Amino acid sequence: MGNILITGASGFIGSHIAERCVVEGHNVYAVLRESSSKEYLNIPGINFIYIKLNNRAEIVNKLRVIKSNIGKFDYVIHNAGITQAKNASDFDNVNFLYTRNIVEALYESGNIPDKFIFMSSLAACGPGDELSMKPITDNSEQCPITNYGASKLKAEKYLREQNKLDYVIIRPTGVYGPRDKDYFQYIKTILKNIEVYIGGKNQLLSFIHVYDLANIVTRIFNSNVVNTTLFATDGGTYTSKEFAGIVKSVTNKRTIKVVIPKWLFRAITYMAETISGLFGKTALLNSDKYKDLTSKNWSCNADTTFRLLEYKPEYTLHKGIQNTYEWYKTHRWIN
Ligand SMILES: NC(=O)c1ccc[n+]([C@@H]2O[C@H](COP(=O)([O-])OP(=O)(O)OC[C@H]3O[C@@H](n4cnc5c(N)ncnc54)[C@H](OP(=O)(O)O)[C@@H]3O)[C@@H](O)[C@H]2O)c1
Repeated sequence: MGNILITGASGFIGSHIAERCVVEGHNVYAVLRESSSKEYLNIPGINFIYIKLNNRAEIVNKLRVIKSNIGKFDYVIHNAGITQAKNASDFDNVNFLYTRNIVEALYESGNIPDKFIFMSSLAACGPGDELSMKPITDNSEQCPITNYGASKLKAEKYLREQNKLDYVIIRPTGVYGPRDKDYFQYIKTILKNIEVYIGGKNQLLSFIHVYDLANIVTRIFNSNVVNTTLFATDGGTYTSKEFAGIVKSVTNKRTIKVVIPKWLFRAITYMAETISGLFGKTALLNSDKYKDLTSKNWSCNADTTFRLLEYKPEYTLHKGIQNTYEWYKTHRWIN
């Protein structure tokens, strides 16, 4: 059992990690902001701390108080992050600067954990080669194509430069499961009998169910894994057509296929971004999304993760989508 600090605990992935940590008997401190929802944190024994992650002095003060009560944190899971923003500097402000703030505050408050686990993303590495279509591996060049990916890579590089902190960087691919709102949109289109493709049907994709990701996080605690970057996938690679096939088979739906040409999708994202920009809002369809959805190769080899953690994910995509679909029905997200 250890003292765990987790940021972004109110979100989709964070709430599952927090829950798993509590179930495994850890003493969990969930970092929230005043506006954060606690809907998925109704977990007996969990502690809440309200900290503004843009305020290093405030983080230091709060960490000092906690340290005087319970001692230092054994593991810090820095999971808070944004996947959508208006521009590169907004991404940097949260995904990079908050990471630096927390690390510096840990140093300053004398709270250096045994491991600092950072939730990065496959986007930090960027997609795999589109000619060979070989999977992304530990040796792949790091070439993020989105502002989001670049901000995560910046935080990763900062962590690798630290010599007073043992870190583990996790790079999950697309994460789905109960409580997820992103793949939910896709499932809803299938439920409306529409199967949408951008460009073509042969994009290679990888996925991980959120339960398996939470499992990977807690397995890191007592493992020998340190100062390492780990990809997190379910071990499979799926074409976009296979993904649609799985969702259709689970939901028992027949569909009409709609292929949106890349040029048209680019025009849509450009318009959405311009209009949202005029109102100071972040567009859901934006240039990052365009680059993400039109990159052909998001296959990824996570064998190192499975070997080092002696763990193979339990959820195949079919089993995971089944579980997720049941959750959406039980929780009345769909009828
Ligand atoms: N979902 C995926 O497919 C995926 C894949 C790879 C990596 N990731 C990474 O996994 C992490 C969690 O993502 P998610 O999918 O669970 O997203 P999410 O549901 O939107 O959760 C994001 C969490 O970060 C917190 N957060 C965001 N901006 C913040 C800020 N300015 N100050 C303090 N807290 C802030 C949110 O707090 P509030 O509740 O207060 O907003 C929330 O708890 C992120 O770092 C993301 O980059 C996600």
